[in-house]
Amino acid sequence: MKITIVGAGAVGASCAEYIAIKNFASEVVLIDIKEDYAEGKAMDLMQTASLLGFDTRITGSTNDYSKTADSDIAVITSGIPRKPGMTREELIGINADIVKSVSSSILEHSPNAIVIVVSNPMDTMTYLVHKTTNLPKNKIIGMGGALDSARFKYRLSEALDCPASDVDGMVIGGHSDTGMVPLARLATRNSVPVTEFLSQDRLDQVTEDTKVGGATLTKMLGTSAWYAPGAAVSSLVQAIACDQKKMFPCSALLEGEYGLNDLCIGVPVILGKNGIEKIVELDLNEAEKAKMKESSQGVSGTNDLLDLKKVSG
Ligand code: LAC
Repeated sequence: MKITIVGAGAVGASCAEYIAIKNFASEVVLIDIKEDYAEGKAMDLMQTASLLGFDTRITGSTNDYSKTADSDIAVITSGIPRKPGMTREELIGINADIVKSVSSSILEHSPNAIVIVVSNPMDTMTYLVHKTTNLPKNKIIGMGGALDSARFKYRLSEALDCPASDVDGMVIGGHSDTGMVPLARLATRNSVPVTEFLSQDRLDQVTEDTKVGGATLTKMLGTSAWYAPGAAVSSLVQAIACDQKKMFPCSALLEGEYGLNDLCIGVPVILGKNGIEKIVELDLNEAEKAKMKESSQGVSGTNDLLDLKKVSG
């Protein structure tokens, strides 16, 4: 199993680190445009192998995509991250050109790869990969909901004063401060609805804190977060590489599901060796449906900012 990670910045390197620690892949290739940067990160990570006990071989390359040939999975983290006060949507211009060129370089050398998009604005970048490549829709996956759900579970565990492993919950919708739809009604603590333990006010607070989870960290760190994003990507990669058939909310191309069409947005999917093996349609209540609709309008609005004639030309 060969995995390429494009972008050896903090998210890409954390992702490589977690994949290696979990020890399920034979090879991870980190690639970056900055001279020697991916090679340096790869060497640093490889020097942890004997300490952490993994056998995954991590190599780095300065923009030489021939090194990524025959990858099974490719993760795109390249582009610029948010600065404090910026929305993910503000990154669209520069990141669209980068994501388009990176996805074409990946597929030139690995035509059968499953592509996971992390670059922001993520739902729109995922849609862009659909529009500019010939990959079937099951092979293009946007990473957002797995991260947002991890942040939701963290906030729930804080409110419940319990370990996060006691909590289950999911965030669907767009990966943006206003677009996320945390499904508080369906969240549980050991199968007991969290609504039995938390007041509506407290749940509203958890929901709000979850939606601005990335922005809160960007303000604290001066750039966007990397540990939880890297761990979330590594979980998606593992589900595909190990054919786990696990369910994660991911940005997927919708063709009628949830009453939506022609956009990529976070919905629960089953991930296995074929990428997205199934889109799970939840029985949402009216309020949740309305939030999902509103979220989809935000994502479509951002998609409209893509000059698709330019980027697909
Ligand atoms: C975040 C970035 C990865 O939410 O979108 O931290």
